[in-house]
Amino acid sequence: DIINIKKRGAFILFEGCDKAGKSTQANKLFEYLRNNGHSVELLKFPDRKTKIGQIINAYLANEYELDDKAIHLLFSVNRWERMKAMKNLLLSGKTLIVDRYAYSGVSYSAAKGLDLNWCCSPDIGLLSPDVIFFMDLTAEEAEKRGGFGEERYEKKSLQEKVRKIFYMLKEKDSDKDSLWRILNANQSVELLHKRIVEYSLKLIEKCSQLPLKEDLWK
Ligand code: TYD
Ligand code: MG
Repeated sequence: DIINIKKRGAFILFEGCDKAGKSTQANKLFEYLRNNGHSVELLKFPDRKTKIGQIINAYLANEYELDDKAIHLLFSVNRWERMKAMKNLLLSGKTLIVDRYAYSGVSYSAAKGLDLNWCCSPDIGLLSPDVIFFMDLTAEEAEKRGGFGEERYEKKSLQEKVRKIFYMLKEKDSDKDSLWRILNANQSVELLHKRIVEYSLKLIEKCSQLPLKEDLWK
């Protein structure tokens, strides 16, 4: 008999500060995998299309004011509202490429002065990524890339703090072997892409056998 054991997809996450090239690399990886016969989907947080996402969008565009804790919780809700769908996609064998997640959520809010542990708590128990490609760029280098845009948070002083907190979150995961892949974002797009593809192909194979983890920061 043919025993058809369904392989799950991989949860591949891109994180980093604004202008680091996350979206560029996430898109290129998506195209590569799709063109090479993989079942793959690309997601982005915040997901500005949902009702919660529309509030977040207005907040980021400085059209709407919200208490720091209130907006933090909305970013978290915006992830929770996608969890069931993400879980089903992964279980159906789709690899998910995700552009920002809870690590951004905590880093940006804590950079504004909120307590780090408080910031982590609403995201506890989300699906955990299988890898975090951290696109690392200093705020100086980011600023050189055509300058920051108009959105809230796109300021050099805040970005420096955000980057430090990403590194604190990496420390918190020091028991999790090779979850974080720190990539120097200040190098050629094609070289980075090549490294990301190589790693992702191995990862997809490896975690197809592993159970899904709904244990973020547990
Ligand atoms: P971003 O990915 O930069 O959107 P775009 O590609 O359209 O510029 O996300 C917008 C901002 O939201 C970014 O500055 C980081 C911030 N952010 C949070 O503060 N908390 C979160 O939970 C997430 C996902 C993003
Ligand atoms: Mg941005």
